[in-house]
Amino acid sequence: MTILRVLGSAAGGGFPQWNCNCRHCDGVRNGTLRATPRTQSSIALRDAGQDWVLVNASPDILEQLRQSPALQPARQPRDTGIAGVVLMDAQIDHVTGLLMLREHRQALPVYATAAVLQDLATAFPLTRMLSHYCGLDTHTLALDDAPFTVPPLHGVMLTAVPLESKAPPYSPNRNAPQRGDNIGLRIVDAATGRRAFYAPGLGRIEPRVLDELQRADVVLVDGTCWRDDEMQQLGFSAKTAADMGHLALSGPGGMIETLDRLPAARKILIHINNTNPILVDDSPQRGLLADHGIEVAYDGMEITL
Ligand code: MLT
Ligand code: MN
Ligand code: ZN
Repeated sequence: MTILRVLGSAAGGGFPQWNCNCRHCDGVRNGTLRATPRTQSSIALRDAGQDWVLVNASPDILEQLRQSPALQPARQPRDTGIAGVVLMDAQIDHVTGLLMLREHRQALPVYATAAVLQDLATAFPLTRMLSHYCGLDTHTLALDDAPFTVPPLHGVMLTAVPLESKAPPYSPNRNAPQRGDNIGLRIVDAATGRRAFYAPGLGRIEPRVLDELQRADVVLVDGTCWRDDEMQQLGFSAKTAADMGHLALSGPGGMIETLDRLPAARKILIHINNTNPILVDDSPQRGLLADHGIEVAYDGMEITL
């Protein structure tokens, strides 16, 4: 058995975002909108045991752990259920939580691609900083489609799937993409063979990624923006969703069209930006998703694979 727990379902900034008074952030803050607050992007996985793999380490990790008692099994005076951390990219919303885990008793096992580890050794020198605390025990993820496990979780086979999205704005790779800047994660229950695919940043559906999506029983994918020009329309950014490495949900070639082609039993959107109308429970866009059998992840959601 594999359990996937959504720790944080919002994109960078969270929902509400601290400095935002858009209709959604203001409405959820004041309770005038039917919507639920969400923390920043992360999930956790476990097999039949008590240990978990953290996938991405959000700046909100401490709050997420308080909301998820199962990740603190309390087997000894200092303990954690986090056996290791797998990173999908080096974005601030996916790696900053490593700093909050600095009290770990041993070097914290971290699994990431060479491109991501390079950013974390240079442009955002987390590995160097944390060497003065718990230290990171880094494992470079090969991009050869070979499965790996994070001990002691041997019931969950993981595979890094390189995909097109964007390296962080601070990265030298932002405008010079490297294979491995962004990955998705194939998650396979070793006992049943049931399969999930997690990709919180997905800029383009390459044939290889479509194949991956088609073979998954559960897909948990990029739901950042409803429209490609959503941030521009609100005057919040000059960037489109595509500029940021995120495929918009609506429109021709959008994520909804892609999901419509999949046989997956569960199609779930995650990494949702606070500007996205699907965060409003009674919005027409949320209704349209329901018509397409598409779910919206929320913090605390658990999926059994
Ligand atoms: C993204 O997914 O585009 C980034 O997380 C944005 C950010 O870090 O602000
Ligand atoms: Mn993000
Ligand atoms: Zn907002």
